[in-house]
Amino acid sequence: MNKKIALIPGDGIGPEVAAEGRKVLEFVAAQYGRTFTFTECLMGGIALDMTGDPLPPETVETCLASDAVLLGAVGGPKWSDPTAKKRPEQGLLGLRKSLGVFANLRPVKVFPALASASPLRPERVANVDIMFVRELTGGIYFGSPQGREIVAEGRSGHDTMRYNEMEVRRVMQVAFKLAGQRRGKLTSVDKANVLASSRLWREVAHEVAAEYPEIEYEDVLVDAAAMYLLNRPGDFDVVVTGNMFGDILSDEASMISGSLGMLPSAALGAGGPGLYEPIHGSAPDIAGKGIANPLATILSVAMMLRSSLGMEEAAAKVESAVTQVLDAGHRTADLAGPGGKSVGTIEMGELVLSYLA
Ligand code: IPM
Ligand code: MG
Repeated sequence: MNKKIALIPGDGIGPEVAAEGRKVLEFVAAQYGRTFTFTECLMGGIALDMTGDPLPPETVETCLASDAVLLGAVGGPKWSDPTAKKRPEQGLLGLRKSLGVFANLRPVKVFPALASASPLRPERVANVDIMFVRELTGGIYFGSPQGREIVAEGRSGHDTMRYNEMEVRRVMQVAFKLAGQRRGKLTSVDKANVLASSRLWREVAHEVAAEYPEIEYEDVLVDAAAMYLLNRPGDFDVVVTGNMFGDILSDEASMISGSLGMLPSAALGAGGPGLYEPIHGSAPDIAGKGIANPLATILSVAMMLRSSLGMEEAAAKVESAVTQVLDAGHRTADLAGPGGKSVGTIEMGELVLSYLA
């Protein structure tokens, strides 16, 4: 069976980690007698430099015609001027919107071999296994109007936080279904005590909850959720929330695991290609040095095998290979800590392949 995969290396360490993700996909394809065809696309800062557009139309076309998209990372200091009209991040937001990938799955798990890297006490992180479902194509990231103007007091800027019931309902459906496949608990995070869009969010969430009586459902305000993530992270199963709250809380939660370099993500829509990326950024400070941790990208590949390529068994094998590599004591620099013995990006990729064989 032939599958088409769009590969967007992007900026910073993106190309280095994406290359290791590709190797894992090629290895799995050979193992299972499949053919994966890769097409490299431009997006982000490199696309801006080469074409003047952070998301060239050909990239959108190629991604839409693929079964899945693997992204390294976009952005960097070179393009971070806040007054610039075009920014790498617009490429990523535009791609999410074009693919209609409204549900962003961000799992936060603690690998036992890495538990000591967490800033939280070991007994607090021991059982952490959270699946964030972040709404990804609506809310304040995309609400209109957005802009700048001059008012009596001087310069002014505005954004709009808006959700309609269709947007809330479809992401809730994803979250309830996932909760049903996991431990049966769903936490919806909003700011319904202040925001009208959050009150709509909660109203629709309760309507969908009525269709899933077997799921234990709770509403938590976003400020309280930020606190509970630190003092009782083991209580969460699936957490569903809007675009901006999900952006912030998923970064907070990533620290529970102590290793940002380990966390994958999947962005899914209604049947089209999924978009898979590590949640870490482009890490310009270590770009080109061959020391970036490719495991988040490799775990994103596992999510791709599961959710877009229909290869659950291969997905589980990739995840297990990553766990085995860590259990055997192999670490990239970010995990090894100062003075610790570490392997480079390519070596880490090869280690994963050796456990997959
Ligand atoms: C993320 C990132 C992006 C976001 C940026 C790069 C636009 O922070 O994927 O969490 O805010 O969605
Ligand atoms: Mg973010």
